[in-house]
Amino acid sequence: MSDLFSPLPLGAHTLKNRIVMAPLTRCRATRDAVPTALMADYYGQRAGAGLILSEATCISPQGLGYPMTPGIWNGEQVAGWERVTRTVHDRGGRIFCQLWHVGRISHPDLQPGGALPVAPSALKPTGEVHTYTGPKPYVTPRALDTSELPDIVHQYRVAALNAIAAGFDGVEVHGANGYLLDEFLRDGSNHRNDRYGGSVENRARLLLEVVEAVCQAVGPGRVGVRLSPIQPFNDMQDSDPETTFSRVVEWLNAFGLAYLHVTRLGMDNPGAAGPMFDLHGLRQLWKGVYMTNHAYTRDTALATVAEGKADLVAFGALYIANPDLDRRLAQNTPLNTPDPATFYIGGEKGYTDYPSLA
Ligand code: PHB
Repeated sequence: MSDLFSPLPLGAHTLKNRIVMAPLTRCRATRDAVPTALMADYYGQRAGAGLILSEATCISPQGLGYPMTPGIWNGEQVAGWERVTRTVHDRGGRIFCQLWHVGRISHPDLQPGGALPVAPSALKPTGEVHTYTGPKPYVTPRALDTSELPDIVHQYRVAALNAIAAGFDGVEVHGANGYLLDEFLRDGSNHRNDRYGGSVENRARLLLEVVEAVCQAVGPGRVGVRLSPIQPFNDMQDSDPETTFSRVVEWLNAFGLAYLHVTRLGMDNPGAAGPMFDLHGLRQLWKGVYMTNHAYTRDTALATVAEGKADLVAFGALYIANPDLDRRLAQNTPLNTPDPATFYIGGEKGYTDYPSLA
């Protein structure tokens, strides 16, 4: 039987346990998207995780959609991340960089030159975006021209190389949660009629091109992919998510990736993202290391790994509040409670001041 607390070979690395810190937006970078010393403290405190996934990190200025989130497209950002990865490595941890382009989940206020956000199709998401001057309704994005897509792939490739230069142990391609690559995948947000729209094969093309480019750049043993098949957040839906994501997982098998990361986000709102299906089918199709996420407790995580339903379990909110979560789970001690009021406010409060066990 597999054990949540036992080591796991993962691509180019061996993880000391199967407990993962999920990618978590915390809005503590500078306004120029540069990681700060405080961020190094925060990630360093959490180095007991078998693997840390960085907060979503933008591959280009066009990829930005939230205030104070970090990037990985220039030298200043690489230097900032170097301080983070060094701190994590000094404490025996491993850390991958999650590569992010928000697509339509942005606003001209956050875009270079006040440009429109870009997307597969000119379809405005419902809801509001956080700008530096408060919440504003989303705008109708500009549909990317076919001729622009090679440059998007190039941006992912450069960002992956930058991540390795910054000392990250690998990268996670963010193909989830209604951001650019997911917007291409699901037919609610992709109404294109070029070779990037229509069939599942066409809708998956951009993700697969990005994964191929990133694998070529840094090696498949340093690349994971995150998907969110049943997640309605950011106005997402698909008419047949089971078919869409089963095929995507079959195609991803070809790369020999470090892992596949599938979030169960959306399970609390069944059917809102399209017909519901059992994500366990994706685990069975996948030929490599499988990571699950969302709303796991100590008991459900232990059982999930013991029963072989996943190899790795990523914890989000619990890692915000418990820097030593791995130890608390191992010793079965009480957990600190996360405070949502401080998730995105900046500064140390609710960020680096949650207590560890004595
Ligand atoms: C967020 O900033 O709210 C956010 C970022 C990335 C995700 C999900 C949510 O995948």
